Amino acid sequence: MSNRKFYALLLIASLLLVLGIASVATAQEDLSGDLEIFSWWTGGGEAAGLEALIARFNEMYPNVNIINAAVAGGSGVNARAVLTTRMLGGDPPDVFQVHAGEELNAVWVAAGRMQPLNDIYEANGWLEQFPQGLLDLISDDAGNIYSVPVNIHRSNVLWYVPANLEEWGVTVPETWDEFINTTCPTLQAAGVTPISIGENWTQVQLWENIAVATLGVEGYNGLWDGTTSWVSPEVTSTFETLGQVMDCANEDMNSLSWQDASQRVANGEAAFNLMGDWAAGYFLVDLALEPNVGFGWATTPGTAGTFVMLSDTFGLPIGAPNEANARAWLNFVGTAEAQDIFNPLKGSLPANTTASIGDTSLYNAYFQSAYEDWTSNDIVGSLAHGAVSPPAFLNGFASLISAFQTDRDAASAGANAGALALQVGMVSPQ
Ligand code: GAL
Repeated sequence: MSNRKFYALLLIASLLLVLGIASVATAQEDLSGDLEIFSWWTGGGEAAGLEALIARFNEMYPNVNIINAAVAGGSGVNARAVLTTRMLGGDPPDVFQVHAGEELNAVWVAAGRMQPLNDIYEANGWLEQFPQGLLDLISDDAGNIYSVPVNIHRSNVLWYVPANLEEWGVTVPETWDEFINTTCPTLQAAGVTPISIGENWTQVQLWENIAVATLGVEGYNGLWDGTTSWVSPEVTSTFETLGQVMDCANEDMNSLSWQDASQRVANGEAAFNLMGDWAAGYFLVDLALEPNVGFGWATTPGTAGTFVMLSDTFGLPIGAPNEANARAWLNFVGTAEAQDIFNPLKGSLPANTTASIGDTSLYNAYFQSAYEDWTSNDIVGSLAHGAVSPPAFLNGFASLISAFQTDRDAASAGANAGALALQVGMVSPQ
């Protein structure tokens, strides 16, 4: 071979090598087309958290056009209905928000509509980075993992403004009895709404908190596997307590979003609001309040030592139109980097244990106290947020709470919930 030929070949070979390296390096930027992200995060710190994630993703993949298909309505009440129509109509989004637990498993996984994501977990080392208990909630018996968690939220938090409680002469009630018999009448006499309650799903969340307080961890867990009877006197009393707490609340509860209900505390119209810790995101981001000053928090009456958890995750439906982009999103949102972008705005804890929860400039006093409890308390799953029961049960239970609000018949509420548990196959007939 002549020298010239040799150098020409060498040049071509080096060019190919450079091109090859360049194509690996730019593989990120090479993705293009749409990415439709379906969620219910349209307001509060939640929209801010999602937008911050999208902004970072856009930097990584500038040619991907993100369609933020969020459907308004706290806890996904409206989004879930829209999602169902789209999934059944052969029009799935690329990725969608879904709660860890039965909301994911009992419908979409059971119907064979989700893609397993184990390859993504393995490639990122996430099997060691996410808590096993959380992975169990999003896996089937064969070990297929079906979604990527972005956070851990807590539903058993009572919010208040410390200076207001002092002015009104009350302290945070430790039990529902104390709230009903002491705190509530004192506040009513002072012309203050003792507790602000919002629309139906927030009432279900209030009930789940009362149930944990009344039945304890074992009794509450037993509701979901049939070992606690829905017609026992203890369960009946959870509904009675719910009615008494409702008597201490604003009458316009059904027309209030969760943000409206939380805001009543921030602006001094109400003393307490029971809300998941997306309220922290709302207080911090939307209302720019300082923890322990503009807002304070405590575990809900009777639930100290227990963390009622839920987790927001993203899943990949079979038939996602832009699967490569969807996979890039899923690869991103589970990282420590993404979780540290999202959670300080959202009010939740990072689910990835390698995220920087110890960094107090990112995660303020609220997060530190939630983390302390998350890592030391008993953990139970939230009913209102899809962890413990199939959506069919939750939907029926929500209607039953709305009937209870009018008829106040605690015994029939329990019996109807028991019948529902049978119908959806949560409990086998004795
Ligand atoms: C929950 C969800 C939270 C927050 C809340 C209020 O179901 O997990 O992330 O969105 O609803 O909308």
